[in-house]
Amino acid sequence: MNDIAAVASLADFETIIEARRSVRVFDTDHQMSEEIVENALKAALRSPNSSNMQMWEFVRVRSDEMRAAMAPICLNQSAAKTASEFVVVVGRANVYKERAAFNFNQLKAEYGEDSEAFQKVKDYYGKLMPMVYRNDYFGIIGGLRKLMGAAVGLFKPMVREMGKSDTYATIHGSNSLASMTFMYAMKAQGYDTCPLGGFDSKRLKKLLKLKGSDEVTMVIACGKGKPEGIWGKRHRLPYEEVVRKV
Ligand SMILES: Cc1cc2nc3c(=O)[nH]c(=O)nc-3n(C[C@H](O)[C@H](O)[C@H](O)COP(=O)(O)O)c2cc1C
Repeated sequence: MNDIAAVASLADFETIIEARRSVRVFDTDHQMSEEIVENALKAALRSPNSSNMQMWEFVRVRSDEMRAAMAPICLNQSAAKTASEFVVVVGRANVYKERAAFNFNQLKAEYGEDSEAFQKVKDYYGKLMPMVYRNDYFGIIGGLRKLMGAAVGLFKPMVREMGKSDTYATIHGSNSLASMTFMYAMKAQGYDTCPLGGFDSKRLKKLLKLKGSDEVTMVIACGKGKPEGIWGKRHRLPYEEVVRKV
């Protein structure tokens, strides 16, 4: 394990946490180089994610034409009208077989096919993940899986969230963590972001040519923030009100 305390401190991280704000107005005269978003995305790809399935895709929207098309889809919010680039974080529910196979093959190569370590994870990616992520349009498979889980749960602790909507919740959870890493990595390079949930998902999917089973977790507007883009102080509930010790 790296001795992280030797290279960074909580204070360094606090600086970034404190500096990141949702910025609603970006400098449209500023040229943000391609590498800024690329660097931040490379950081985001290392985020924790459920079973390392990485069921995500990050669509970069940078051309003038596509950015112009994005603004009305994002309800003409000022962040969307002034962004230098958008990153659209997409959950791809239909890539589970490939992603399970990726992990299977990586671990086989890392541990060796006959190793004890590989025997432990073989069925996880070879059988369990393809089973857990499989869904149909109507959610019937997920419903049956959930029932099966509930039956097992009568006798021992069991994950209960196994329906189709649970699959998406898991994907969006992982994608949100990657989004957060991305936004901190943008701030660490002196750039700003605004996560946007206010968009027309149907029109956005059409514009980006996404598949029916894909879902957009969030749109992240990026650029050099202007001071007027910060709308006020940060208001947060007190620690005591939202943290409970048991
Ligand atoms: C999932 C999500 C969706 C959001 N959608 C929007 C949005 O559509 N428009 C907007 O201006 N801000 C949006 N925000 C930003 C929040 O309003 C903002 O994070 C919150 O007010 C706290 O401010 P801060 O980010 O500056 O700390 C969104 C944030 C999240 C996490």
